[in-house]
Amino acid sequence: MKRNKKEIFKEISTLLKKRNATIVAHYYTNPEIQELADLTGGCVSDSLEMAKFGKKSSSKNLIVAGVRFMGETAKILSPEKNVLMPNLEAECSLDIGCKKEEFSKFCKKYPKREVVVYANTSASIKAMSNWVVTSSIAIQIVSFLMKRKKKIIWAPDKNLGMFIKKKTGADMILWDGKCIVHEEFKIDSLKNMKKIYPKAAVFAHPESSEGIIQIADFVGSTKQIIQASKVFSNREIILATEKGILFKIKQFCPEKKFLIAPTYDNNINCKSCAECPWMKMNSIKSILKLLKKNWKKNEIHLEEKIRKKALIPLKKMINFSTKNY
Ligand code: 13P
Ligand code: SF4
Repeated sequence: MKRNKKEIFKEISTLLKKRNATIVAHYYTNPEIQELADLTGGCVSDSLEMAKFGKKSSSKNLIVAGVRFMGETAKILSPEKNVLMPNLEAECSLDIGCKKEEFSKFCKKYPKREVVVYANTSASIKAMSNWVVTSSIAIQIVSFLMKRKKKIIWAPDKNLGMFIKKKTGADMILWDGKCIVHEEFKIDSLKNMKKIYPKAAVFAHPESSEGIIQIADFVGSTKQIIQASKVFSNREIILATEKGILFKIKQFCPEKKFLIAPTYDNNINCKSCAECPWMKMNSIKSILKLLKKNWKKNEIHLEEKIRKKALIPLKKMINFSTKNY
């Protein structure tokens, strides 16, 4: 007999207590996971807040429902905790597109530059950097470096890099990486959508292409997008970001109408349709399986040498974000 959601949540909640575990989930995961994380005292947030929450949590075990770099970030910051993921194959196109051998060659070409990498990278790439940033704090950190006359190597997201470069005027050399989800928003289709909803504001994640960012009324991280929904007076908001955000943004701002920006055009070519295939590998079923069967199997392990090196730039970001810099 099929069990209902309430019963499954109850079972997971009991297992979480038994295992001294907390769920740390990203806004792009399925709504049920976000609901479960909230219900069991976990967190649902953007990548910066996920990292901070994991570090502060008193639980011995963290279940990171997101993509691999988020699990690795939690482990880098909290080596004393076990970090587990519902699916270890949940990757990110930015992480996949920035391998250590090529990145090392790239950095060697510009030895005098400060290496700033996006959190959407492996622990090995972080270990090669001077700074790690997330989209919510990238502009502040790059501005800080600029004031200190630093020239920058930026990796891996080219769109985010371009956005920061334009905003700050920093001297940045950009790695050519892309998010397969944000890349798919179509400029002409968005312009057409704006004709149908002329009063709507457009909010975009900075991983979106330059053309989308130019149209956007607000550009920010997932958390900043949610917060901005209350600040803008528009009753309708078009979101150029992953669909999973709808769950929290609607909860936060129930009086408004949210629409996802189009990923199709006349050729109707849409691979992701604003859904991250890796984020969607996390499910209630996989969390239950993790708690029951895959406990040891799905743990994140990092080489201690790499972890220690990656901790330095990551800690700089956390300290910067808490004004401790
Ligand atoms: P945020 O830091 O804005 O949550 O972004 C993470 C991410 O992977 C966006 O695609
Ligand atoms: Fe990576 Fe894009 Fe998925 Fe975010 S949405 S995890 S950047 S592939």
